[in-house]
Amino acid sequence: MENIKFEKDGNIGIITISRPKALNALNFKTLVELNEVLDQVEKDEEIYVLLIRGDGEKAFVAGADIAEMKDMNPKEAREFSIIGNKVFRRIENLRIPTIAVINGYALGGGCELALSCDIRIASENAKLGQPEVGLGITPGFGGTQRLSRVVGLAKAKELIFTGDMIDANEAFKIGLVNRVVKKEELMDEALNMAKKIASNAPFAISVAKASINRGYQADIDTALMYEVEVFAQCFATEDQKDAMTAFLEKRKIEKFKN
Ligand code: CAA
Repeated sequence: MENIKFEKDGNIGIITISRPKALNALNFKTLVELNEVLDQVEKDEEIYVLLIRGDGEKAFVAGADIAEMKDMNPKEAREFSIIGNKVFRRIENLRIPTIAVINGYALGGGCELALSCDIRIASENAKLGQPEVGLGITPGFGGTQRLSRVVGLAKAKELIFTGDMIDANEAFKIGLVNRVVKKEELMDEALNMAKKIASNAPFAISVAKASINRGYQADIDTALMYEVEVFAQCFATEDQKDAMTAFLEKRKIEKFKN
């Protein structure tokens, strides 16, 4: 692949968006490659957590590729938005947790990519925003929908209407990022969190994620039924029996299996 790198650190998968000369801007090819690497991630049962980061010093992803979009007609723009949304929805629905490791600019499609992840960790120098209206367009990879779900309607509208870039601390204050850390500590922080997640029961995490995501779109009674179902399903796993037995025998479970 030209614009996507993939590696593993134990049970952690790491996707790097790599077009540093264009601040990792997402062109059509990069989205296609991202979709392909997700096939690999989905098939690999040894990956428990996925990190997504940007290559280079300056950017996570500075948006969709403006040079590629400039001459698009509405039909082409629709196709571009459809593929971006398809890939990001796939990320959102992965069975494993995902962490966006925001090492710099996360603008437009970059902020939207981060929003499709479950957790966002940013370095102090990161800048986030949805500057699309300054380019005569709207966010096109989920920003008009996911941003308000994460930060609330009023803040999402402010960010999208003004196109303002906010720094990492402001993003933390409004709940757009989970943590802000020093630049040099970013990857360690993300890996530590990923390892902590990976040390818990994978099946329980996977169904908890599905329950949270599905429940967020549903009324509370329907949502609570999702919880009842996934809670019950956990009791069919070896991990539940092993972990509860270990607790009662006052020892730590060595490794989860499911
Ligand atoms: N698309 C294409 N190329 C981009 C890009 C983008 N989104 N962002 C940066 N680049 C390119 C620049 O054109 C430049 O290329 P050259 O060296 O060939 O001139 C290179 O990356 C470095 O960028 P700058 O020289 O601009 O770097 P800077 O440090 O001065 O500024 C920046 C950094 C503030 C992030 C600035 O690059 C910028 O504003 N980028 C665009 C951000 C943006 O508007 N993103 C939204 C895009 S629209 C979108 O994403 C739609 C959607 O929802 C699907």
